[in-house]
Amino acid sequence: MTDPAAGPVTKAVVTVAGLGTRFLPATKATPKEMLPVVDKPAIQYVVEEAVAAGLDDVLLVTGRNKNAIENHFDRNWELEAALEAKGDLERLARVRETVVVADMHYTRQGDPRGLGHAVLCAARHVGDAPFAVLLGDDLIDPRDPLLTTMLDVRTRHGGSVVALMRVPADQINLYGCAEVDHTPRENDDTGTDDIVRVTDLVEKPEVADAPSDLAVIGRYVLDPGVFDVLRKTSPGRGGEIQLTDALRTMARSGDHGPVHGVVFEGRRYDTGDRLEYLKTVVRLACDREDLGPDLRAWLKDFVGAGMGG
Ligand code: UTP
Repeated sequence: MTDPAAGPVTKAVVTVAGLGTRFLPATKATPKEMLPVVDKPAIQYVVEEAVAAGLDDVLLVTGRNKNAIENHFDRNWELEAALEAKGDLERLARVRETVVVADMHYTRQGDPRGLGHAVLCAARHVGDAPFAVLLGDDLIDPRDPLLTTMLDVRTRHGGSVVALMRVPADQINLYGCAEVDHTPRENDDTGTDDIVRVTDLVEKPEVADAPSDLAVIGRYVLDPGVFDVLRKTSPGRGGEIQLTDALRTMARSGDHGPVHGVVFEGRRYDTGDRLEYLKTVVRLACDREDLGPDLRAWLKDFVGAGMGG
């Protein structure tokens, strides 16, 4: 019998159960993952990213207000009929795209007791196979396929893989931070600039104590052994069960294979932060053929005129 733990990754878990307090009051009755990034909600970019990496079984770990997300990926017959009657086939196609994007599943976190706890809620659906985790408010530009690289590292080395990004040293206290080993190994691509062996992890360290400037960002490929580790992980920083703490245990013990880091140098957008969200919308809209030329011209005038002051 084949061992699913050694098999390919086919499932993605997307966490969307956080409270989104940084975006209140917009997120009082609407999940932050439904905020529009140009004309698609953030969550749709994330689901499309999973599918582009070959993972079309997508489990969303949701919390309160899950209806808006479920409805978004479901059919809306009235809307489709109205667009059809008007002959607006382009918009009709865009509405239908959201339904066929992936094989969607949902589970509920109940109490938002941290990212580690949200991942644990996926245990039954995931079973004994490795899986990917994507944070629903963290967007990776589709032109920079990070997840595909991470899946490839898992295929070659087993264990788990985290995405890392260099951040200014004085901002590392906002992230999980990785201690890494750059020592090259024989017959191995680890220890290169962009694939490193993770030896330790710490959630939101004090700037002075941070082992590096490598921050953990919202993409993971995890060995299913993480579930056992999470069950034994006590609440950590902020009283929450931290995924970083479980990965720290795995990196230090090596019990469920190595933990590697892929150092990402592409474009990442944190849509859970108000300023980053605004920048994301402007950047992505500027790149669009339909909106970009007019928006760029307007921005130039706006900035040139002292920003509307
Ligand atoms: P954040 O750290 O951004 O927390 O979560 P948050 O509660 O969503 O937002 P703020 O900080 O209050 O504004 C990172 C990711 O982990 C998920 C979130 O949905 C987001 O994808 N998460 C966090 C859960 O699913 N459950 C939790 O209990 C906590």
